[in-house]
Amino acid sequence: MEKIRLGYVGCGMMAQRVHLPNFASLPDCELVALAEVRRDLGAKIQRRYNIPRLYSDHRGLLEDPEVDAIAVSAPFALQGEIARECLAAGKHVFMEKPMAVSVAQAEAILAASRASGARLMIAYMKRYDAGNELVHDTVARWRASGELGRVVYARAHGFCGDWTAGIDLPPLETSDEPAPAAPTEEHLPSWLPRQWSRAYVSYLQQYTHNVNLLRFILDAGERIRVKHVDLDADGYTGVVILDVDGVRTTLETGSLRYFRWDEHTQIYFERGWVHTWAPPLLLRNAVAEVEIYRSDESGAPGALGGQGVQHTLTRAIPEPRWSWAYKREAAHFVECLRSGAPFRSPGEDALADVRTFEDIFRTWLQM
Ligand SMILES: NC(=O)c1ccc[n+]([C@@H]2O[C@H](COP(=O)([O-])OP(=O)(O)OC[C@H]3O[C@@H](n4cnc5c(N)ncnc54)[C@H](O)[C@@H]3O)[C@@H](O)[C@H]2O)c1
Repeated sequence: MEKIRLGYVGCGMMAQRVHLPNFASLPDCELVALAEVRRDLGAKIQRRYNIPRLYSDHRGLLEDPEVDAIAVSAPFALQGEIARECLAAGKHVFMEKPMAVSVAQAEAILAASRASGARLMIAYMKRYDAGNELVHDTVARWRASGELGRVVYARAHGFCGDWTAGIDLPPLETSDEPAPAAPTEEHLPSWLPRQWSRAYVSYLQQYTHNVNLLRFILDAGERIRVKHVDLDADGYTGVVILDVDGVRTTLETGSLRYFRWDEHTQIYFERGWVHTWAPPLLLRNAVAEVEIYRSDESGAPGALGGQGVQHTLTRAIPEPRWSWAYKREAAHFVECLRSGAPFRSPGEDALADVRTFEDIFRTWLQM
């Protein structure tokens, strides 16, 4: 297949610092058009990447026959509306998380995709981190062989910190023009009391990553259920107990002025664990660190008689060891469009994340 001709919507931070440089670097992708409401900003970024056409909003891309697919990064609820219109026009879409701020919004987006046949990938970059791939594969192998017993517990911890890691290139262009309105309220769950709108969106947009990663590591599909919620009055700090495909899982959340990024995920088996630490998100070419612990029958007699146990703790080096999850997700999108292979983070799968966050807040607010 020919190169994928990509249109990009929005020239904000994620576009400039992450997605545009990544897509521009892929040999099988050609940036053919850009859409940005703030024309001065759009013109600067158009020049930087030598992109042939600039539209004043995403609708320009919908009618451009030379655009095969569209990537979107914009404010939380707005980007879902943009994605829905792009899908309805038959354009394949790569969009930032969260896919939607309510199940109703997510279902409307998925209905547009089904109606036109255009495909939707959500940019859950953690699924494309080489360290997380190693964790996923190790967990799957141990579960299939049963060699370390069953999975007894999982834990996701995310206290945040500095996700930008001092990124300074490419330089960030700004605009004196006001950003366009980004309505949120009308897309929120109808049952959510309005005083909780901000807290709900902050919590959802942050921890959707962790819930999505847990479902990936445990191959859980949509088998996830909220068991217990204990949050502070900020609607952010606390702990949630989930059932992720039969595994008791805790989601520990909070915010910290940490200079790095305090996020780790651990999967416990009866006789071992796999543990992964996320890099600060914008630290280019750093992968999650992975620790693997296992205890095996050694075959030799133990100190107190009976069978001895051999304990092994390893720091596996994921491959490709110097790689960036965001770049690999962009390459995955382009490759899947060219080959027809399924996305690793499709829109249909992300519905389970949106539903989980509605359930967490509904449980917490006893609605
Ligand atoms: N995956 C991650 O690690 C990660 C990290 C940070 C942010 N995000 C996600 O990225 C998104 C925010 O991205 P950002 O910070 O770059 O946003 P931003 O608000 O800085 O930029 C959005 C741009 O889109 C433009 N725009 C708005 N509506 C438009 C339209 N209809 N047509 C054309 N242009 C339009 C605005 O003028 C603005 O320049 C959020 O959804 C957030 O969840 C993801």
